[in-house]
Amino acid sequence: MTTASPRTAPAVSAELVAAFKAGMQRLAAAPCVLTTRHEDRRFGLTASAVCSLTADPPTLIACVNESAEAWGAIDASGRICVNVLAAGQVEIAQRFAGMLGHRGEARFEGLEWDLLASGAPVLRGALAAFDCTVAERVRWSTHTAFICRVEAATVNDAGDPLVYANRQFLRAAPL
Ligand SMILES: Cc1cc2nc3c(=O)[nH]c(=O)nc-3n(C[C@H](O)[C@H](O)[C@H](O)COP(=O)(O)O)c2cc1C
Repeated sequence: MTTASPRTAPAVSAELVAAFKAGMQRLAAAPCVLTTRHEDRRFGLTASAVCSLTADPPTLIACVNESAEAWGAIDASGRICVNVLAAGQVEIAQRFAGMLGHRGEARFEGLEWDLLASGAPVLRGALAAFDCTVAERVRWSTHTAFICRVEAATVNDAGDPLVYANRQFLRAAPL
């Protein structure tokens, strides 16, 4: 594990933090559902802090708040399935963000899931799914950046991608 600490950095002003948040709200991102299985229980959360790192080897980064229930399960299992959502799956994004009152296993109920060899659940109908093994962890302030080796990827071209920007869910469609 790589441990970096922002505690050694100089204090930042509240104005800078507010400007950072306002700027990041304008950075459109794709909400994904990160899932894992640990000790025979499923865990998941909505995360848009997911991006490609390298294509060779296929590697991505997923950033997870250490306060999220799924964080400990991801950290302990070392496995994540990244489910990329379509615009028609906005309720799933809300559900896995806790916006509809679901927690734990209740987030998975009533939806169709397949099981990866690792045991992580894959959302049937996700635009893409990446079956990952955690290769490296970078802990920074409130979050851990999980650097993940992609073991398998599936795609499904059913629908426009879901996007989140300016604190709203949006549909990504051609201009
Ligand atoms: C659009 C959107 C994107 C989010 N992206 C992230 C993210 O990248 N990382 C993260 O840790 N939480 C992210 N969240 C927040 C989590 O989904 C939320 O805190 C969730 O409830 C996890 O905590 P819990 O499982 O303990 O309830 C995002 C929420 C929304 C609505």
